[in-house]
Amino acid sequence: MTDKKTGMRKGLTRYGDEGFSLYLRKAFIKGMGYTDDALDRPIVGITNTYSAYNACHGTVPQLIEAIKRGVMLAGGLPVEFPTITIHESFAFPTSMYMRNLMAIDTEEMVRAQPMDSVVLIGGCDKTVPALLMGAASAGIPAILEVTGPMLPGSHKGERLGACTDCRRFWGKYRAGEIDEEEIAQITDQLVPSAGTCGVMGTASTMAILGEALGMMLPGGACIPAVLADRFRHAEQTGAQAVQMAKDGSPTPDQIMTADSFRNALTVLQAIGGSTNAIVHLAAMAGRLGLDIDLDEFDQIGRQTQVLVDLKPSGENYMDDMHKAGGTGPLLRELGDSLIRSAMTVNGKTLGENIDALPAAFDQSIIRTRNNPIAKSGGMAVLKGNLAPDRCVIKHVAASPELLNHTGRAVVFKNMEDLVNRIDDPDLDVDKDCVLVMQNAGPKGAPGMPESGYLPIPKKLAAAGVKDMVRISDARMSGTAFGTIILHVAPESAIGGPLALVEDGDLIKLDVENRRLDLLVSDEELAARRARWTPPPPHPGSERGYSKLYQDTVTQAPLGCDFDFLRARK
Ligand code: FES
Repeated sequence: MTDKKTGMRKGLTRYGDEGFSLYLRKAFIKGMGYTDDALDRPIVGITNTYSAYNACHGTVPQLIEAIKRGVMLAGGLPVEFPTITIHESFAFPTSMYMRNLMAIDTEEMVRAQPMDSVVLIGGCDKTVPALLMGAASAGIPAILEVTGPMLPGSHKGERLGACTDCRRFWGKYRAGEIDEEEIAQITDQLVPSAGTCGVMGTASTMAILGEALGMMLPGGACIPAVLADRFRHAEQTGAQAVQMAKDGSPTPDQIMTADSFRNALTVLQAIGGSTNAIVHLAAMAGRLGLDIDLDEFDQIGRQTQVLVDLKPSGENYMDDMHKAGGTGPLLRELGDSLIRSAMTVNGKTLGENIDALPAAFDQSIIRTRNNPIAKSGGMAVLKGNLAPDRCVIKHVAASPELLNHTGRAVVFKNMEDLVNRIDDPDLDVDKDCVLVMQNAGPKGAPGMPESGYLPIPKKLAAAGVKDMVRISDARMSGTAFGTIILHVAPESAIGGPLALVEDGDLIKLDVENRRLDLLVSDEELAARRARWTPPPPHPGSERGYSKLYQDTVTQAPLGCDFDFLRARK
């Protein structure tokens, strides 16, 4: 028995005798009925990210069946294995807190078990970045398949879907415009099928970026979860994984290069995508020894128009984008803004894949550059004395009249303080104030929750106020909207300037000039810093994953990955 270091011979368990290790491995797997012929084939691992907690991954069993079909038709042996899965609404304290654990799980299971390539089944927000982070570190050929978006629902003749409409209707409920009975009816319609959120939230954004990066076969990002097209794409993905297993390439580092990350940043601006994506791209790039330059991202945004008419920047749903042709027509429209030579999983360059697209047809979802949704990209990166290491705003989903605004700070010390006081009728707040929340960053919350979408105080909402300037070191759901400044770095829990803001301070937001400043003298800020003390440790953070997280999580510009997981340069 020779160890060819492929298939079943790969990564033999150490018993001190490789022949014995292979003999024992084969004996055990034969217990599931495999023949020697099957066990001699190239092995394609398939991450099973199904969980009964995760409706966004409700179709994973059928996807695995389709992927296996593709693998076997192409002469490979498919072997599924479980990894952690994460749903946004079922992860405490946050899904972001769990993302790195899923990335570690993926990396180590891919490395520990014999497989020549791996199909990564992602979907719900943090799963795609976690899988790609893990695969980037594991280093074997990997290909992404996503579960795909849910279909839109319907309420009183109006289309709706998670989760831009979740927030819109919740805002109406808080303002007293709809009652208990109606909000309950709406919960039946917001998630009308399995699949990921149907707007340009984080899941849709990461799926499209996965395709733009070259990690997914063309056309896969936007197909709804329940359509036959989705399972055909999965079958093709399985077949491609066999080719990658035989070739031993391309590996993630050959696909996710500086060029392809630049393409992803361009696409992120052009789709008006989720602010979360910039954190995830930074984490993924860090696994490969690359950095995401936030100033370059901002510059790309000034040169890139928003071309996709999907909520929350526009009006439509992922189902519409699929019918309009998916990611391909967008890539074609971006033309020379993209680096065409970037490699993709099918062994062709991005440019070659664009050239192979079907002919364009009339549609209104993916606009031309002559008729954009917005004249500049979806996101801007700000800096100033309140955010020396930057912060972001999704200005395409903000109120234009608030993009240059100076207001009085109303400060909440943490999320609990916010919950306790935001609806207090005696809260000293008006529509021109700037709502500030501290201690909601990667370490402070912990887990950098999507709580940056601070609610409008009830008394102002009831008076018709729809938007205010809001600032925090937290994140925001990609499905949310408003004049909301996020990812302030360094975060307040480690003594960033956000920690020094007090009620009544003036804060100046100037998006055109990319500034966010606290209008307080340096002397006063120095005096406040001298008095500042860090928040107490979180309960339980003295042990386990919580300790690992608290000790090693990085700030938003480095993707909130653990410092020891970034590639050494
Ligand atoms: Fe899973 Fe939105 S909750 S994609």
